[in-house]
Amino acid sequence: MYRLNDWQISDDGLSEDDVLQNGNRLLTGNGYLGRRGVVDEALPSDMPATILSGIYDRHGDLWREPVNSPDPLYTLVSVDEKPLRAGDERTVSHEQALDFRYGIYSRSTSWNINGKKAAVKAQRYAHMEDVNLLCMRYVISSGGQCKINVRQGINREIKDLNGPHLGNFRYIEQSQLKQNDITQRIKGLSCETLEKKIPLSVFSALVNDKMQYIKEEKISNSDDGIFSCLTFDIVNDTEIELIIYGAINTEKECVKAAEEQIKKSLNEGWENLLKRHKAKWDKIWNTGDVVIEGDEYAQRCIRYSLYHLWIIAPRYTENGNGRALSIPARGLSGQTYKGAIFWDTEMFIAPYFRSVRPQMASQFIRYRIQTLEGAKKKAVEYGFRGAFFAWESQESGDDACSDFNVTDVFTGRPVRTYFRDKQIHISADIVYSIQEYVSHTGDTSILIEGGMELILEAARFFLSYLYYSPEHKRYEVLDVIGPDEYHERVNNNAFTNRVVLAVFEIARSYIEMFQKENPLFINDLIKRISFNDDLEFMKTVIDKFYLPQPDSRGIIEQFDGYFRHEDCSIETVRSRLKDPKEYWGCSGGVATPTQIIKQADVVTMLALFGGDYPAEIKKANLDYYEKRTEHGSSLSACMYALLYCETGSSDKAYPFFIKSAEIDITGKSKHFAGLVYIGGTHPAANGGAWLTAIHGFCGFSVCNGEIKIKPRLPSLWNKVKFTCLMRGEEFEITVTKDNYSICKKQ
Ligand code: BGC
Repeated sequence: MYRLNDWQISDDGLSEDDVLQNGNRLLTGNGYLGRRGVVDEALPSDMPATILSGIYDRHGDLWREPVNSPDPLYTLVSVDEKPLRAGDERTVSHEQALDFRYGIYSRSTSWNINGKKAAVKAQRYAHMEDVNLLCMRYVISSGGQCKINVRQGINREIKDLNGPHLGNFRYIEQSQLKQNDITQRIKGLSCETLEKKIPLSVFSALVNDKMQYIKEEKISNSDDGIFSCLTFDIVNDTEIELIIYGAINTEKECVKAAEEQIKKSLNEGWENLLKRHKAKWDKIWNTGDVVIEGDEYAQRCIRYSLYHLWIIAPRYTENGNGRALSIPARGLSGQTYKGAIFWDTEMFIAPYFRSVRPQMASQFIRYRIQTLEGAKKKAVEYGFRGAFFAWESQESGDDACSDFNVTDVFTGRPVRTYFRDKQIHISADIVYSIQEYVSHTGDTSILIEGGMELILEAARFFLSYLYYSPEHKRYEVLDVIGPDEYHERVNNNAFTNRVVLAVFEIARSYIEMFQKENPLFINDLIKRISFNDDLEFMKTVIDKFYLPQPDSRGIIEQFDGYFRHEDCSIETVRSRLKDPKEYWGCSGGVATPTQIIKQADVVTMLALFGGDYPAEIKKANLDYYEKRTEHGSSLSACMYALLYCETGSSDKAYPFFIKSAEIDITGKSKHFAGLVYIGGTHPAANGGAWLTAIHGFCGFSVCNGEIKIKPRLPSLWNKVKFTCLMRGEEFEITVTKDNYSICKKQ
């Protein structure tokens, strides 16, 4: 069972499910790589993974997914020739923990070896500054006289969901470096991805200072990796400390880079490296933290959520020299969801970074700008113009979403899904998020550097997608999927229509702005991409665009005909399941013919465009849709929380906030869509927790560089303190039940 303390979460479970959950729960990372929280001697079935951000590979015609690196920290200890594995029959105690202030994973396991105790204690982390580096301190205690074997090195026995992805392996054996009686054993491996031949080098170094016990040592390599094999003859109780460094590089000269990283780390040493790593985290928390007074549990959950955002944020791309990257829907916790980037980043994750690290938020936009060509290709593929962004976007912007994204539980056959073809709101979400970024930061340079072109191409896509209804004399958006994926191919989804209109409005207002401030730029752009006719058409469309309106009860119909669907309870729908893993949507899904929806849809629209609707409408819709929302997506709860805050019901918002904030602590989320494994961490919920705490409970918003606060804390909370970076200045904001202060930090 897991335990959550201040800045620490631990778990002593050993079941198969515990191992899977802890892999996510105790994840460490630094934005370049994510390392699952599994033990150092993990077998492939434990799903050990070191996921590399932005590196993808496709094996045969299986799903393209992020690359899982060979593991340079692999360590297996045997006592008297018998391997010690957490959970084997000799295990006496076992605990794993994560210090989420400093991103340090630890494990402590003991075994009974013929009446004597042997134990392993290890700590490891992904260096927050030297992002190619993994560090581990591994201490073995022997229970008296015994022979200890250590097999430490680069392990290739890792499990891919849709692999393998690497080939052309070459081992690099280094002569052992002896310095003042300390032996440093360095091993290396180079390989490349199968599809794009991206080079990957992994180095591992092992240092230990108990030379007197070493009886034998060698480096061996085989198909499963390259390892140092040490034999210690132990005569009495003793501790053997090993320091292990791992370096992983993927640039052109990666062998050299990984080797240099290792040598530099050996010189710097464990203590100094750790100091530098912690200093980086201190700096991050200095601006990134949220302090909640009055609610210890919420405090721990929100910090844990923010920790998860920092370990997957690709800060290393911020220097702007190369590719920009974004954050996948399951972060760097594994290969689920193909390591793809969804609307999650723009709508749920970006708000936090916009506020505490705008340069990271700008990278998310730059990533989309870099994938614009892919989006244009996708639009053409479906017979449209402009930019139709990938629903599941990988490094090039090609859509990783397959036409058959769910596997039927009963037949084992792939089911046709329309996420890729019809979830067109993705292009609008990106535009919406660019506008939010510009409004917060005042950074219009991003518009000039590709952002404006993206916005116009997105607008063009929607102009080519919409239909004119001569009957109603209005423009409509037909045949789409809104956020509620259980109802595919619907007409006039309220959310989609609203965000599409927002694209036109944003495009028009930026054109007007540039017309005043930089006419040369905007006129050139309009000419270069031949947007003139589209511009005229767009103006007409804005005036005649259809937005579904509240009915006599104040309820906005989620899509045309939604109210005609069977109106029943979630329990009724659940009771119709013949298998717990059954997918609720698609043609045969239990939710499809009913009004039961997967996630906040109209509610998301009202949360984002709150200013357009009075409180009674928001309340009526909350009331109507809450009973009908299954929350089958981790993106759902925070939108309910936000809207409850908006309508003055913070205590109703609170359980939704907790649901978002504790999702990766409890591990309570869907793990399967049909037969497809979808487990991992939930960055959108992590970001959603921040959104609720800050935008919801504190009523924080920024509009054109002006900070606004409307306190509406839940009963338990007395005070919230957080930081907002804006336009080169740093503000410390304190919110109490009925007051607030905004102080410029010096
Ligand atoms: C949700 C999407 C979300 C995706 C990735 C799906 O289950 O319905 O809205 O973008 O997961 O998190």
